[in-house]
Formats: sequence, structure tokens, C-alpha cells
Amino acid sequence: MADPVLVTDHDGVRTVRMNRPEKKNALTQPMYAAMTAALGEAQGNGAIRCLMIAGGPGAFCAGSDIGDFQKRAEGGLEPVTIGFLHALARNQKPLVAAVDGLAVGIGTTMLLHCDHVVASAGTMLSTPFVKLGLIPEAASSLLAPLRLGHARAFALLVMGRPLSADEAKTAGLVNTVVDSAAVEDTALKAAHEIAALPAGAVALARRLMRGSLDDVTARIDTEATHFQERLKSAEASAAFAAFFARKK
Ligand code: COA
Repeated sequence: MADPVLVTDHDGVRTVRMNRPEKKNALTQPMYAAMTAALGEAQGNGAIRCLMIAGGPGAFCAGSDIGDFQKRAEGGLEPVTIGFLHALARNQKPLVAAVDGLAVGIGTTMLLHCDHVVASAGTMLSTPFVKLGLIPEAASSLLAPLRLGHARAFALLVMGRPLSADEAKTAGLVNTVVDSAAVEDTALKAAHEIAALPAGAVALARRLMRGSLDDVTARIDTEATHFQERLKSAEASAAFAAFFARKK
């Protein structure tokens, strides 16, 4: 079976690719661990000047694996998701995303930690946390209202209304909307543009722009406490069962 996370370095750009197409890139705990390691190793690696997160054609990421949610609710799985969320928040390298198609849950909220986002015209961003009986994660309860304003953030995070690529661009979450076939090249070009800039100045400018890391990581932890509780709720348990029963 192919590696579910592929990490490649080329000309100063590290691409971290979610590669579980048969499950629309739903993220398992080992995938979170692999992505955490790829981000973590890049921090002290002077050869990496920019990171890019990518998925596959038509599916950037379908969110966390709902089967893992069930196991976590039963206490049968140590959540490593939190390590990835901290790695995202603490990451010091510029982060570009190449998004084509579905971007659900963490597939959308991770974009709040990116610096430059390229999406295909057909991309739909959605965060059905509340519909699943859960609450928003990845500090999205803090970052989405700041970025999108409360009204748009509430429609996305609480009402679960999707955002199209164009709407996400208007809202300030996406930089460029292109045809599906051009997403990767456009994102890679932006990543190389960033990688060619003076790395020290980029790092400092980015750090100043991103504000307090402690606020972000504290929110990740607060959300995670509630999230773990919500996983065990009757509302969540019914939603997970409904997801797996939908095709029967
Ligand atoms: N967790 C576990 N499995 C998932 C998954 C997830 N988050 N998202 C997709 N899959 C699986 C499906 O169960 C299906 O598996 P199967 O072929 O063994 O039945 C496979 O991936 C393909 O998904 P499918 O639903 O057939 O594709 P689709 O194009 O009709 O719909 C989605 C794609 C993403 C809209 C739909 O799968 C979905 O709603 N997934 C859940 C998203 C979600 O709620 N994520 C958590 C956010 S907090």
C-alpha cells in the first residue's frame, strides 16, 4: 500500500502530501504523526525555506477519520492529532496550501495556519463539527472569527455551511482560485517565490504577522479538552453511526 503521507523536498520547498485517495484523504492518527514529523524536522532544517501542504485531485482532505473518532471516544486510541495542531501553530516556516476539491474539518481549519492558499474553482471548504456533535478545533474558534468576521465564521463553524473557493477568497482565506489542473503548479510557484526571499526576513515578518503563539496554542488545548468530551457524547456517537450507516 502506498504511503499515506508523502514528503518530498525540492529546491528549498518541502511538500507534505496527504495520500489516502480511497478515503478522500481522511486523516488517521499515523497520518497526523507523519505530518507532525515532517513539519517538525523542517523547523531546524536550513535547506527547507517553505512548506507546501497538498492533497490529491478532487480531495484535499475529508477531515479526521471518523472511525478514529469512534475509537478515541471509547478510549482505545491515543489522540496524536493534538501534536499536529501544535506543530501547525508553532511552525516557523512559511506554509502554502494547494487545495483541490473537498476540504472538510481539519482540511479547512488547517488553512487558517497557512500563509498562502491556492484553491481550485470547484473547491468546497466545510467544517461540519457541530453537525457531528463536536466543536471546532485547531484554534479555529479563535482564528476564523478574526480572519472572516464573526458572521461568516459562525455560518462556517457552527451552521456548517460550506464556503466555495470564490467565497473563501472574498473572505480572505484563499489567495488565488484557478482551474483544478493548475492548482499544484500555481501553489508550487508561490512556494518557490517565497523560498527565494531572504529567509531570516521572511521568518521575522511572518512571526510578527501571526501574533501570539501562546494564545493560539492555549485555544487549541481548550478546544481539545471540550472536543474529547464531545467525542463521548450521545450526539456525536449517533452522528458517527449515521455516517457509517449511510450507504447500507
Ligand atoms: N472518516 C472516515 N472515512 C471517510 C471520511 C472520514 N472523515 N471521509 C470519507 N471517508 C470514506 C468513506 O466512508 C468512503 O469509504 P468506503 O468507500 O469504504 O465507503 C470513502 O472515504 C469515500 O467517501 P464517499 O463518502 O464515498 O465519497 P463522497 O465523494 O460521496 O463524499 C465526503 C465525500 C467527504 C463528502 C463524505 O465522505 C463525508 O462527508 N465524509 C465525512 C467528512 C467529515 O465529516 N469529516 C470529519 C470532519 S470533523
